[in-house]
Amino acid sequence: MTQQQDLPPQARVIQMLEQFWLARSVAVAARLGLADVLAQRSRTVSELAEATGTHAPSLSRLVRAMVAYGVFREEGSEPRIALTELGETLVSDRPGSMRELLMTLIAGEHYRAWGDLDQSIRSGRTAFDIHYGTDIWTWYRQHPEAGEEFNRTMVAATAAVNQAVIEVYDFRRFRHIVDVGGGHGSLLRLALEQNPAARGTLFDQPGVIAEARGVIAAAGLAGRVELSGGSFFESIPAGGDAYLMKYILHDWDDAKCGMILANVRKAIADGGTLLVFDTVIPPPGTPDFSVLMDLNMMAMTGGRERTEPELRDLLGRTGFALRRVLPTQSHVSITEADPM
Ligand SMILES: C[S@@+](CC[C@H](N)C(=O)[O-])C[C@H]1O[C@@H](n2cnc3c(N)ncnc32)[C@H](O)[C@@H]1O
Repeated sequence: MTQQQDLPPQARVIQMLEQFWLARSVAVAARLGLADVLAQRSRTVSELAEATGTHAPSLSRLVRAMVAYGVFREEGSEPRIALTELGETLVSDRPGSMRELLMTLIAGEHYRAWGDLDQSIRSGRTAFDIHYGTDIWTWYRQHPEAGEEFNRTMVAATAAVNQAVIEVYDFRRFRHIVDVGGGHGSLLRLALEQNPAARGTLFDQPGVIAEARGVIAAAGLAGRVELSGGSFFESIPAGGDAYLMKYILHDWDDAKCGMILANVRKAIADGGTLLVFDTVIPPPGTPDFSVLMDLNMMAMTGGRERTEPELRDLLGRTGFALRRVLPTQSHVSITEADPM
């Protein structure tokens, strides 16, 4: 394949456009549930249109694009459409499914808010708030179905990240692990699996905790995980010797992070460890997922990704000393900090 750097600059711009259209088309295929139908058996386009309630001539053009880019394939002379290995990742409710992630990020509320990214840059306001007239967490409370889809996205999208964390980090020295803003507790569950002697507390907004109850019970952890609903701007369950914050600090600006960290500082046991799981922005000029994630956070929540010095400074202002930053095989790094 032609290396991007070898192409004339105009062609590289067209490549960016192509990637954008492709990502959006795959997300729409995910949203329409095409892969779920094809996972049962291959279909002709008209059968697929009937099963998904779509307009067959338009669907055939989306299918053509998916075949062209290796998401679907054609078999037989009729022809029938089937899934490729790539297309299999769009099937729901399977380990490693990417369907929810694509639906939430580029075929749902995030995509529409990204459309107002320019407004964020012009005004300094959060694009989501401009587009929807409220912040993302309030909006999810008002639209519980979308909220639940987002929470499932966090589980599905971060399965690989959690695995990468577990591979490099040893949770076995902790007795009580508190997952702050833990969603459905996907990282906490893995940490407790690694450390069968520990107990956990899953803390999130009350509505999210109500959803998580069944997930924790299904994982056989009801006896080891205390479920706690509340706001981390008010207080955080006390007494843990490990506090996990995955994709939390990047959701908020420095002032709000300061409020959350001050509450963690009050709650954490002496000698405890704070573990922050976010991307860490590398030195300038390095193409890295984190700098695009940073724009995503600006547009969605008004938060930001941070450099290591920025994290050190933020933690230092709330009574924590950054001990080390551990990279993982994923885009997320583990920032370890000690209460001072
Ligand atoms: C980006 S998600 C991360 C979820 C989880 N840590 C993960 O990595 O999968 C942010 C979480 O913060 C929670 N959250 C937002 N505002 C909160 C608040 N005021 N108090 C507690 N949790 C909150 C959300 O409900 C959501 O579960």
